[in-house]
Amino acid sequence: MNLLVTGGAGFIGSHTVIELINAGHRPIIIDNFSNSEPFIIERLKKITGKKIISYVFDYGIKDKTREIIEKEKIDGVVHFAAFKQVGESVEVPLKYYSNNVSNLINLLALAQECLVKYFVFSSSCTVYGEPDSLPLTEDSPIKAPTSPYGSTKQMGENILQDTTRTSQQLRSISLRYFNPIGAHPSALIGELPIGVPANLVPFITQTAAGIRKSLTVHGNDYPTPDGTPIRDYIHVIDLARAHVGAIEYLIDKNPCFYDVFNIGTGQGSSVLEVINTFETVTGIKLNYSIGARRNGDTSAVYASVNKAHKQLGWKAKETLSSSLADAWRWQKSLGKV
Ligand code: WQD
Repeated sequence: MNLLVTGGAGFIGSHTVIELINAGHRPIIIDNFSNSEPFIIERLKKITGKKIISYVFDYGIKDKTREIIEKEKIDGVVHFAAFKQVGESVEVPLKYYSNNVSNLINLLALAQECLVKYFVFSSSCTVYGEPDSLPLTEDSPIKAPTSPYGSTKQMGENILQDTTRTSQQLRSISLRYFNPIGAHPSALIGELPIGVPANLVPFITQTAAGIRKSLTVHGNDYPTPDGTPIRDYIHVIDLARAHVGAIEYLIDKNPCFYDVFNIGTGQGSSVLEVINTFETVTGIKLNYSIGARRNGDTSAVYASVNKAHKQLGWKAKETLSSSLADAWRWQKSLGKV
């Protein structure tokens, strides 16, 4: 299928482009490089050995996106392009509502107008808020959002569901990501955080590389076995493969079909477990200290992934160790070691 991949040069988007090509599809990237780098396109060519079709502009420019959808005869959209920093969303909410919600509305209007059949939306476990019980299933309650970022993901899911349910041709899925980590084993593509990383694993690899002096563990007084928060860390390649499963799952569905899937490993790991695993895998002793809790953090979040396994035939294959090993190999390749 001809698949439009918005944000296809980004961390998850680029890995998904590879998996779509491996599955025989024809991905077409639109990316404005606001959270990625042009060299990623060359790296995708090197990894896949294929010509990568990419257009460099903001997908929010409706006329240009319409032109690409028509020119490339787009069958479906895999929509990654969005801002994702929780902390930044609190500082500049309108930037997040404009890009993550207003531009999504424009994209869905174009999908309707151009009779695009399939749509996979990048959502997040953030929509659940503080869990009442674990593991989180797709039927777990959706709490009031704890940040404008989380609010844009909740709105995105509702807008997609309502649009799909009244559509003559659209079938769609929201994928609720847990914590994406790792990098392609080739070390040619991976996470490229802008500035000081907010997320744990890139901060760990930059500390190990000497770019950051030390890592602060944000609190060890949580109600967890070792006192540090628990998350469900999923290798970005497993996450990419879930998008292939999702788009192919939609092929035989009728118009108006909509569903939601958790995409995680089903395993929780604490911050100290991630640190200890990184040290074991790399042989590097990390310089870290225990600091105060970070506002907005929850104590434990991890997924039930039975639904994706049963219906999409998808299950995460990578481990925390292999994810951290790939993340470290990528950090070293950035030449800052
Ligand atoms: C994980 C744990 C931190 C950095 C966020 C978004 C989520 C998704 C993934 C987009 C927490 C601790 C972190 C550090 C630390 N993004 N930590 N020291 O907050 O679970 O999820 O990123 O979809 O929507 O909310 O991920 O990696 O920031 O934090 O101790 O220097 O690591 O307190 O417990 P998070 P994270």
